[in-house]
Amino acid sequence: MRRRTSVSTAVHETRPTTLRDGAFGNARALSCRECGHEVALGPHYACPECFGPLEVAYDFPGVTREQIAAGPRNIWRYQPLLPVPTDITESPNTEPGFTRLLRADNLARELGLDKLWVKDDSTNPTNSFKDRVVACALSAARELGAKVFACPSTGNLANAVAAAGARAGIKTVVFIPANLERPKQVNSAVYTENLVAVNGTYDDVNRLASEIAGEEEGWAFVNVNVRPFYAEGSKTLGFEIAEQLGWRLPDQVVIPVASGSQLTKVDKAFRELVELGLVEDKPYRIFGAQATGCSPVAAAYKAGVDAIRPVKPDTIAKSLAIGNPADGIYVLDICRRTGGAVEDVSDDEVREGILLLARNEGIFTETAGGTTVACLKKLVETGRLDPALETVVINTGMGLKTLDAIGDSVGPAATIDPSYAAFTAIGIA
Ligand SMILES: Cc1ncc(COP(=O)(O)O)c(C=O)c1O
Ligand SMILES: [Zn+2]
Repeated sequence: MRRRTSVSTAVHETRPTTLRDGAFGNARALSCRECGHEVALGPHYACPECFGPLEVAYDFPGVTREQIAAGPRNIWRYQPLLPVPTDITESPNTEPGFTRLLRADNLARELGLDKLWVKDDSTNPTNSFKDRVVACALSAARELGAKVFACPSTGNLANAVAAAGARAGIKTVVFIPANLERPKQVNSAVYTENLVAVNGTYDDVNRLASEIAGEEEGWAFVNVNVRPFYAEGSKTLGFEIAEQLGWRLPDQVVIPVASGSQLTKVDKAFRELVELGLVEDKPYRIFGAQATGCSPVAAAYKAGVDAIRPVKPDTIAKSLAIGNPADGIYVLDICRRTGGAVEDVSDDEVREGILLLARNEGIFTETAGGTTVACLKKLVETGRLDPALETVVINTGMGLKTLDAIGDSVGPAATIDPSYAAFTAIGIA
């Protein structure tokens, strides 16, 4: 029996709305990650008992590999494991997911690893993994009767919200730090008239968004007041990795960390697959990757402490520039519990990481991916990642969005006159 639940405070409604049956699929409630207290499904994100963050809890039905394999080639193949209704495919959205999992033998050889895969999420509709989380947030916004679809963003999220909102025909408003890379601004502004650049860091933008969410009626801020639903979308990365490996878990995964949400949900996905009997239980290690110029989680990991001290970001990895990461403490827990680590690399290493992936595997990643590949390299060199174990590195974004970061280090080998003699003179033949 499913309850009918009244929508209340956080996404303010001009009129009280009643949720339809099955609005959130097999989700049962929102559960506090700190104290376990449960609240009814709705636009809530903080525990009324202890202010801890809420996450979606489920009553899963039996789900088989065959059922999943028969679904669409996008994230909705995992509908029973997400907080979305069974008719989700009938609502317009960007249909992200089921991106390539590529064997990366050249990069493996270069870094001294036995077996490496790249999960390439740069091929999503707006070229980052954010399309996954936004598709789930859009479903929640729709079910909650929101009239505005919004976000504070380090860039990619704004692109994904603006595009998904355009397809869904809902008003979008996206907020970014004013110093963001121009391609990321354009990639939002083509989809929405309401791109708002804020003079400040991402953390300033995030605070402003929380204030607006508290004041305005009917606004669904994907990563603020519908965050529990949004975050579940990242589980699909974990589901896909396992399914594409032939329904088994990898030994090691390296994941970039900004707020830390994605990393925690890949872990949640692996645990759910085990719980549902879809994969065999086995140990796996999760590693987090940050740029040194914004590495509050890596710093806490290395200091052996639990508290994360917020920082003011200064790095070319702008998509990862969250100085006060909401899920940082959970990232620490997971990386420690699984025997992984959180590493950080300099901006020069980020650039090197971008080139390592491009020249070895033909994949052009943005600075977040450069950070992840560079951390993978460092983790192998320092012996914390076992080169004999099967490893997956997640490429979460697309290099064309951060051309400035790499533009000065690559270009024509030579500029020549159109003659064979001029060509032979440059020594490439
Ligand atoms: C390309 C890219 N990778 C990774 C991340 C990190 O995601 P999370 O905030 O879930 O840690 C972001 C966040 O904006 C991103 O844009
Ligand atoms: Zn609580």
